[in-house]
Amino acid sequence: MPDEITVHSPATIANIVCGFDILGFALENPCDILTIRKTASRGVSILNRDDFGLPTVPENNVIGAALLALLNEVPENIGFEVESTKMIMPGSGIGSSAASAAGSVVAANHLLDLRFTKHDLARFAMVGEAVASGVQHADNIAPGIYGGITLIRSLYPLDIVPVSAPPLYVTVIHPLIEVKTSYARGILKKEIPMADAVTQWGNIAGLVVGLMRGDYDLISRSLVDVVAEPLRSKLIPGFDQLRKKSIEAGALGGGIAGSGPSVFMLSKDEATAKAVESAMSAVYLKTAIDFHTYVTTINNEGVKILNIHPEN
Ligand code: HSE
Repeated sequence: MPDEITVHSPATIANIVCGFDILGFALENPCDILTIRKTASRGVSILNRDDFGLPTVPENNVIGAALLALLNEVPENIGFEVESTKMIMPGSGIGSSAASAAGSVVAANHLLDLRFTKHDLARFAMVGEAVASGVQHADNIAPGIYGGITLIRSLYPLDIVPVSAPPLYVTVIHPLIEVKTSYARGILKKEIPMADAVTQWGNIAGLVVGLMRGDYDLISRSLVDVVAEPLRSKLIPGFDQLRKKSIEAGALGGGIAGSGPSVFMLSKDEATAKAVESAMSAVYLKTAIDFHTYVTTINNEGVKILNIHPEN
């Protein structure tokens, strides 16, 4: 059985515009790097190899909480030592906490001869995600663990459905401003008018069918959110311009990445995704706000093994 493993755990984009809390996909880039070693005593110790100052007490740390949830279902007297190098900035909206949670449980499972299913791993990772966001949601965790695009058909009981998709390129702009998930959730209405609900579920169904059929026009028409975006987009300076200029540059559509502040756009090919990156950058260069951009694709594998020791 291996006793040490290093993995890449990907950023993820939750909601995919219309699917609030139920849809998400994994990105090829950026990724966190996690090394996990098995130890002979129960418990989890965490070493942060970055400057984000995240907690190291396991119960207060996403990785720690997820691994403790996993260890609760491991009868042997073992524990884990974790080195975490975060490349996905906390608070960016592209699933930084989910990358920690998903990466740690997938890696630990390799040190336990793959005894847990992906569904189990998602359950454990959700405990970690709740430490960061205060609520359990799986729309970032599931694509991190399963890869590709996932639908959370139900949270309780947890029902994760992988959704196939045609090739898609993703452009992300991360404005360096803070939008707390708890705040972005708090401003949402508790009830929505029936007419908006009908529009929303038409778009969700259209998006899923469009993805599974590889129908880019249907995907494009369905990337509309009448529930969360009208309220949340006010928290992101230049949001309307970002979308307008991206569509003019050829994007299929897009919106807020998770609860923001990052904004993403989908494109059919890399050249268009790069043109969208230039268009988004031009919008933000006119503001005083610093930002990062990424052009990447959907990661169909989820968490990837970089090294495993010993190999057999
Ligand atoms: N689905 C969640 C939300 C994702 O939109 O609040 C948070 O990252």
